[in-house]
Amino acid sequence: MYNKRFFTVKLWEIQKLGGVCVKYPTSCILKWFLTKYLRLPERALVLDLTYGEGRFWYATNYLVYGVDIKRLAWVKEPFVFIKDSLYNIWGYPDVVSQPFDLVVVDPPFTKHKHRRTHYRVSGSLKEAYNMVLFAIDLAQTLGKPLLVHFREPINWADYGFFLESYSRYASGLLCGWFGLFLW
Ligand SMILES: C[S@@+](CC[C@H](N)C(=O)[O-])C[C@H]1O[C@@H](n2cnc3c(N)ncnc32)[C@H](O)[C@@H]1O
Repeated sequence: MYNKRFFTVKLWEIQKLGGVCVKYPTSCILKWFLTKYLRLPERALVLDLTYGEGRFWYATNYLVYGVDIKRLAWVKEPFVFIKDSLYNIWGYPDVVSQPFDLVVVDPPFTKHKHRRTHYRVSGSLKEAYNMVLFAIDLAQTLGKPLLVHFREPINWADYGFFLESYSRYASGLLCGWFGLFLW
Protein backbone atom coordinates (compact mmCIF):
# COMPACT_ATOMS: atom_id res chain seq x y z
CA MET A 1 0.00 0.00 0.00
CA TYR A 2 2.69 2.46 1.06
CA ASN A 3 4.87 1.73 -1.97
CA LYS A 4 2.02 2.36 -4.37
CA ARG A 5 1.65 5.83 -2.98
CA PHE A 6 5.30 6.78 -2.95
CA PHE A 7 7.17 7.75 -6.10
CA THR A 8 10.66 8.96 -6.82
CA VAL A 9 11.45 10.73 -10.06
CA LYS A 10 14.67 12.07 -11.44
CA LEU A 11 13.92 15.15 -13.45
CA TRP A 12 16.77 14.54 -15.87
CA GLU A 13 15.09 11.26 -16.82
CA ILE A 14 11.87 13.16 -17.55
CA GLN A 15 13.84 15.59 -19.72
CA LYS A 16 14.76 12.71 -22.01
CA LEU A 17 11.09 12.62 -23.08
CA GLY A 18 11.84 15.75 -25.13
CA GLY A 19 9.49 18.58 -26.14
CA VAL A 20 8.17 20.76 -23.31
CA CYS A 21 9.67 18.30 -20.81
CA VAL A 22 13.19 19.47 -21.61
CA LYS A 23 12.74 22.96 -20.30
CA TYR A 24 10.12 22.39 -17.61
CA PRO A 25 10.30 18.71 -16.57
CA THR A 26 8.32 19.37 -13.41
CA SER A 27 5.31 20.44 -15.48
CA CYS A 28 5.43 17.10 -17.31
CA ILE A 29 5.69 15.02 -14.18
CA LEU A 30 2.87 16.98 -12.54
CA LYS A 31 0.58 16.52 -15.51
CA TRP A 32 1.22 12.76 -15.42
CA PHE A 33 0.84 12.58 -11.63
CA LEU A 34 -2.37 14.64 -11.49
CA THR A 35 -3.98 12.86 -14.43
CA LYS A 36 -3.18 9.43 -13.05
CA TYR A 37 -3.95 9.90 -9.35
CA LEU A 38 -6.45 12.74 -9.30
CA ARG A 39 -7.99 12.11 -12.73
CA LEU A 40 -7.68 15.82 -13.47
CA PRO A 41 -9.33 16.63 -16.80
CA GLU A 42 -7.54 18.45 -19.63
CA ARG A 43 -9.18 21.76 -18.64
CA ALA A 44 -9.03 21.36 -14.87
CA LEU A 45 -9.75 24.40 -12.71
CA VAL A 46 -6.80 25.03 -10.39
CA LEU A 47 -6.18 27.54 -7.59
CA ASP A 48 -2.41 28.13 -7.34
CA LEU A 49 -1.73 30.19 -4.21
CA THR A 50 1.92 30.93 -5.11
CA TYR A 51 1.83 31.26 -8.90
CA GLY A 52 5.38 32.53 -9.49
CA GLU A 53 6.23 32.13 -13.15
CA GLY A 54 3.62 29.42 -13.66
CA ARG A 55 6.31 26.83 -14.41
CA PHE A 56 4.22 24.02 -12.93
CA TRP A 57 1.59 24.49 -15.63
CA TYR A 58 3.77 24.82 -18.72
CA ALA A 59 2.83 21.39 -20.11
CA THR A 60 -0.86 21.64 -19.17
CA ASN A 61 -4.04 23.27 -20.45
CA TYR A 62 -5.45 23.78 -16.99
CA LEU A 63 -7.40 26.93 -16.20
CA VAL A 64 -5.30 28.31 -13.37
CA TYR A 65 -6.30 31.04 -10.95
CA GLY A 66 -2.88 32.31 -9.88
CA VAL A 67 -2.27 34.20 -6.65
CA ASP A 68 1.06 35.92 -5.97
CA ILE A 69 2.27 39.03 -4.21
CA LYS A 70 4.42 39.72 -7.28
CA ARG A 71 3.68 39.63 -10.96
CA LEU A 72 6.65 37.81 -12.46
CA ALA A 73 7.58 37.08 -16.08
CA TRP A 74 5.18 34.20 -16.68
CA VAL A 75 6.22 31.18 -18.73
CA LYS A 76 2.52 30.28 -18.77
CA GLU A 77 -0.15 32.91 -18.46
CA PRO A 78 -2.68 32.29 -15.71
CA PHE A 79 -6.36 32.13 -16.57
CA VAL A 80 -6.95 34.71 -13.84
CA PHE A 81 -4.23 36.50 -11.86
CA ILE A 82 -4.77 37.86 -8.35
CA LYS A 83 -1.95 40.11 -7.22
CA ASP A 84 -2.25 39.68 -3.47
CA SER A 85 -1.08 37.57 -0.58
CA LEU A 86 -2.55 34.10 -0.33
CA TYR A 87 -3.59 34.99 3.22
CA ASN A 88 -6.11 37.46 1.72
CA ILE A 89 -7.80 34.90 -0.52
CA TRP A 90 -10.98 34.83 1.59
CA GLY A 91 -11.43 38.48 0.54
CA TYR A 92 -12.18 37.20 -2.97
CA PRO A 93 -15.54 35.42 -2.60
CA ASP A 94 -15.92 35.09 -6.40
CA VAL A 95 -12.64 33.18 -6.47
CA VAL A 96 -13.01 30.86 -3.48
CA SER A 97 -16.49 29.88 -4.66
CA GLN A 98 -15.16 28.50 -7.98
CA PRO A 99 -15.49 24.73 -8.43
CA PHE A 100 -11.74 24.08 -8.23
CA ASP A 101 -10.36 20.62 -8.92
CA LEU A 102 -7.16 21.36 -7.01
CA VAL A 103 -5.47 23.86 -4.70
CA VAL A 104 -1.67 24.29 -4.91
CA VAL A 105 1.02 25.84 -2.73
CA ASP A 106 4.77 26.14 -3.32
CA PRO A 107 6.35 28.42 -0.69
CA PRO A 108 9.30 30.60 -1.73
CA PHE A 109 12.80 29.41 -0.96
CA THR A 110 16.26 30.79 -1.44
CA LYS A 111 18.52 28.99 -3.86
CA HIS A 112 21.36 27.38 -2.00
CA LYS A 113 23.23 24.19 -2.68
CA HIS A 114 22.66 22.72 0.79
CA ARG A 115 19.06 21.63 0.70
CA ARG A 116 18.40 21.89 4.42
CA THR A 117 19.07 25.60 4.34
CA HIS A 118 16.78 26.45 1.46
CA TYR A 119 14.13 28.13 3.52
CA ARG A 120 16.35 29.03 6.46
CA VAL A 121 18.87 31.18 4.58
CA SER A 122 16.06 33.50 3.63
CA GLY A 123 14.94 33.53 7.26
CA SER A 124 11.57 32.31 6.14
CA LEU A 125 11.29 28.69 7.22
CA LYS A 126 8.53 29.54 9.70
CA GLU A 127 6.77 31.58 7.03
CA ALA A 128 7.07 28.71 4.55
CA TYR A 129 5.44 26.36 7.08
CA ASN A 130 2.76 28.98 7.75
CA MET A 131 1.92 29.12 4.05
CA VAL A 132 1.63 25.34 3.87
CA LEU A 133 -0.55 25.22 6.99
CA PHE A 134 -2.76 28.01 5.64
CA ALA A 135 -3.13 26.13 2.34
CA ILE A 136 -4.04 22.90 4.18
CA ASP A 137 -6.69 24.75 6.16
CA LEU A 138 -8.06 26.48 3.05
CA ALA A 139 -8.19 23.30 0.97
CA GLN A 140 -9.84 21.36 3.80
CA THR A 141 -12.44 24.10 4.29
CA LEU A 142 -13.17 24.18 0.55
CA GLY A 143 -13.15 20.37 0.44
CA LYS A 144 -10.60 20.33 -2.39
CA PRO A 145 -7.46 18.24 -2.90
CA LEU A 146 -4.19 20.06 -2.19
CA LEU A 147 -0.84 19.76 -3.94
CA VAL A 148 2.09 20.93 -1.79
CA HIS A 149 5.63 21.44 -3.05
CA PHE A 150 8.04 21.63 -0.15
CA ARG A 151 11.59 20.79 0.80
CA GLU A 152 10.99 20.28 4.48
CA PRO A 153 9.42 17.40 6.37
CA ILE A 154 5.72 17.47 7.05
CA ASN A 155 3.41 14.74 8.22
CA TRP A 156 1.99 13.68 4.89
CA ALA A 157 1.59 9.94 5.56
CA ASP A 158 -2.12 9.98 6.30
CA TYR A 159 -2.96 11.65 3.03
CA GLY A 160 -2.92 10.86 -0.67
CA PHE A 161 0.30 10.45 -2.58
CA PHE A 162 3.89 11.47 -2.20
CA LEU A 163 6.25 12.23 -5.06
CA GLU A 164 9.92 12.84 -4.43
CA SER A 165 11.79 14.59 -7.19
CA TYR A 166 15.50 14.97 -7.71
CA SER A 167 17.12 17.61 -9.83
CA ARG A 168 20.74 18.41 -10.40
CA TYR A 169 21.33 21.74 -8.80
CA ALA A 170 24.62 23.63 -8.65
CA SER A 171 27.20 21.15 -7.41
CA GLY A 172 24.82 18.62 -5.96
CA LEU A 173 21.46 16.96 -5.99
CA LEU A 174 18.42 18.77 -4.82
CA CYS A 175 15.48 16.84 -3.50
CA GLY A 176 12.05 18.36 -3.24
CA TRP A 177 8.74 16.68 -2.81
CA PHE A 178 5.16 17.00 -3.86
CA GLY A 179 2.44 15.77 -1.58
CA LEU A 180 -1.06 15.29 -2.89
CA PHE A 181 -3.35 15.70 0.09
CA LEU A 182 -6.80 14.14 -0.19
CA TRP A 183 -9.18 14.66 2.69
C1 LIG B 1 8.74 28.91 -5.20
S1 LIG B 1 7.88 30.25 -5.97
C2 LIG B 1 6.56 29.48 -6.85
C3 LIG B 1 6.99 28.97 -8.18
C4 LIG B 1 5.85 28.42 -8.98
N1 LIG B 1 5.35 27.17 -8.42
C5 LIG B 1 6.21 28.22 -10.44
O1 LIG B 1 5.95 27.12 -10.95
O2 LIG B 1 6.72 29.15 -11.09
C6 LIG B 1 7.06 31.01 -4.63
C7 LIG B 1 6.22 32.23 -5.00
O3 LIG B 1 5.47 32.62 -3.84
C8 LIG B 1 5.28 34.01 -3.91
N2 LIG B 1 4.87 34.50 -2.59
C9 LIG B 1 5.64 34.86 -1.53
N3 LIG B 1 4.86 35.22 -0.51
C10 LIG B 1 3.58 35.11 -0.92
C11 LIG B 1 2.32 35.35 -0.31
N4 LIG B 1 2.22 35.77 0.95
N5 LIG B 1 1.21 35.10 -1.04
C12 LIG B 1 1.29 34.64 -2.32
N6 LIG B 1 2.45 34.41 -2.95
C13 LIG B 1 3.57 34.63 -2.26
C14 LIG B 1 6.63 34.53 -4.41
O4 LIG B 1 6.46 35.82 -4.99
C15 LIG B 1 7.02 33.45 -5.44
O5 LIG B 1 6.65 33.82 -6.73
